[in-house]
Amino acid sequence: MVSIEENELLTRVGPGTPMGELFRRYWIPAVLSEEIPEPDCPPVRTKLLCEDLVAFRDSQGRPGLLAENCSHRRASLFYGRNEECGLRCIYHGWKYDIDGTVLETPAEPAESMIRHHVKHTAYPCREVNGIIWTYMGPTELVPPLPDYPWITLPRDRVDVGSKFFLECNWLQCLEGDNDSIHSAYLHFRQRPARDGQQRAGRESADAGNWRRNPATVDFDINRWGVRAWTRYPIDDDRVFVRTNTFVMPCVGNTPRGRSDVNEAIHTIYQVPADDYSNLRYDFEVYWDQTTDGSYSRQQRKEVTMPGFKKIMNLQNNYLIDRGRQKSGELYCGIDAGNHTQDACVTETMGPITDRTQEHLGVSDGHLIELRKYLLSALSLMQEGKDPPGIFRNPEENKIGNFLHMVTASVPRGKEYRDLLLTV
Ligand code: FES
Ligand SMILES: [Fe+2]
Repeated sequence: MVSIEENELLTRVGPGTPMGELFRRYWIPAVLSEEIPEPDCPPVRTKLLCEDLVAFRDSQGRPGLLAENCSHRRASLFYGRNEECGLRCIYHGWKYDIDGTVLETPAEPAESMIRHHVKHTAYPCREVNGIIWTYMGPTELVPPLPDYPWITLPRDRVDVGSKFFLECNWLQCLEGDNDSIHSAYLHFRQRPARDGQQRAGRESADAGNWRRNPATVDFDINRWGVRAWTRYPIDDDRVFVRTNTFVMPCVGNTPRGRSDVNEAIHTIYQVPADDYSNLRYDFEVYWDQTTDGSYSRQQRKEVTMPGFKKIMNLQNNYLIDRGRQKSGELYCGIDAGNHTQDACVTETMGPITDRTQEHLGVSDGHLIELRKYLLSALSLMQEGKDPPGIFRNPEENKIGNFLHMVTASVPRGKEYRDLLLTV
């Protein structure tokens, strides 16, 4: 059971909070590349870890991430002029480069030294596979980009789906991604979904069986996170095995495809905007084949509102269809992709759910391990050590192959962990 103090510790991410400091040790998504599509395009607002920021792309195409409020008198740089390798405040013309260097203060006398004494808050950015990644921690501790497949595989293997704004704390969302049992309930539908969601429908048909046969879950505790092995009895001879992985600091992975060792990973980042809202990024990552982009095309149909808000949302009760819920056609009654169904159950817990009121069962093992893992990562950081998932040595950083996933039907009694030894 999580205490009030632990719940506060795990959920608060502002500057100076323990979890906020932990998040600031990792590279996290700042914005999609397409949000700042070309040199000198308009800047965009974003909020990360309770900090108001603007992202822009300078004349050389380099991405930058600056504190939103101007260092002079705090006007918003969102309205700034993006010109000649810098973002210029429209109030008095101060101009900043992507490093936060003050390039010009045109309203000051020529002999003014003020620009040499001011450094605007700026965070380093790296652009990989359709995402602008940023690091918001101490400059002396910046780690290499991790060897995660969604970062190291070629661009044509990574399908960047949509970005969603969620109206609740990040940890509720992350716990949902790592709750391997809920798919058999929340996402169950009797018929394949329309509009290219056939795969979701097929997986959902399996979920019908899983619902009738409670699963068991085992765990591997790793140096990058936690792998869960969920096993569903199929019949007297066979067992269905599926892995989920939690990867530091805010990633949930599920398998895609039907082969034993999966052809693709579905990767979700839950990036805190602040303590009460969150940005979800979805990717499909193919190990050995190029993506046809169908995943992202399908996902983007459901996000057409400004600010990455969903059409079916908390304010309109996710347009729940009680008739289809009652008929059993849709278990949850929300005819949308998994991300909207996930949003319903996590957002309606409240902005920060009170975990002291939970009653956890055997089937909640994965999230119990996840919480323990995060608390131990906090302890490591507070002892002055690198938390898990930070790999400074290139050899140690070769962890991509450990992130293969399994969806397989195996004979009862077979050592299912062997399924991953071949990769
Ligand atoms: S407030 Fe930005 S230049 Fe004065
Ligand atoms: Fe889900």
